[in-house]
Amino acid sequence: MITIIGSGKVGGDAALFSALKKLDEQILLLDVAEGLPQGEAMDINHMLSEQGIDVEVRGSNNFADMKGSDIVVVVAGSGRKPGMTRMDLLKINATIVKSVVENIKKYAADSLIVPVTNPLDPMAYITYKVSGFDKSRVFGMGGMLDLSRFRQFIHEATGHSRDSIRALVIGEHGENMLPLPRFSSVSGIPLTSLLSQDKLDELVNNTKQVAAKVIELKGATVHAPGNAISAIIESVVRDRKQVIPVATYLDGEYGYSDVTVGVPAIIGKNGVEKIIELELNEQEKKVFDSAVQSVKTAISGIEI
Ligand code: 2OP
Repeated sequence: MITIIGSGKVGGDAALFSALKKLDEQILLLDVAEGLPQGEAMDINHMLSEQGIDVEVRGSNNFADMKGSDIVVVVAGSGRKPGMTRMDLLKINATIVKSVVENIKKYAADSLIVPVTNPLDPMAYITYKVSGFDKSRVFGMGGMLDLSRFRQFIHEATGHSRDSIRALVIGEHGENMLPLPRFSSVSGIPLTSLLSQDKLDELVNNTKQVAAKVIELKGATVHAPGNAISAIIESVVRDRKQVIPVATYLDGEYGYSDVTVGVPAIIGKNGVEKIIELELNEQEKKVFDSAVQSVKTAISGIEI
């Protein structure tokens, strides 16, 4: 069973995409708001019915219903409003995520947890600490979303099929995001040999800024995060062992410990099966270091 805690637009879309991809026969939407997860589940089931897909989506306000979950996605919390950075949500969402994770520990002690709530990297740290789960079982969704945006900008700049584009974004899912042109390609051809440095810089900046732009235009980002969540779940349930950037706990990798930040990792049925350590150049390392410092500062201010 896949459980999604938080049944707003992103949680709803994560359930929708997971159902369409048939990632499990049972998907549970949980939320403290009465009626919301039930209504969302009904709406999705009606759509699945027309499609002839036998995945059952349920809605509940009772945390005990997540018993037996294999994967729990945490989307609960306040979303980013126009003009806000992800870090502005730190205090309010830390309290919510702590209490949600206590419930996961109680009812779904054998699950893998995918935090999504912002600010993502500190929330992944809280989730890891409060759950007491092995570090391989907690991996936050941020980089997967960022790289889908980077891919779109590469598609727009080169005109090549989205399918032929591979992109990587690590670091903070926030101000110190690190899109990596050197580790991105079109059908294996390095992006750095296809576009000028000025164009690459433009794409990197656009990738960092574009979520704020979407929020300004339509109030929230919805489909891209919902889909990115389902992409991570797919790599787990189908044991695809895809290399996906996730916010996970570092224990010496990249020279850091006791922090959670976006790094490429092999994601399979056991969660994080291996963190891939890239040889970053000096400029990339500088941004990565700032990302780590930013997350460390954030988590030092939270009582866990
Ligand atoms: C996003 O990047 C706001 O973190 C959210 O879409």
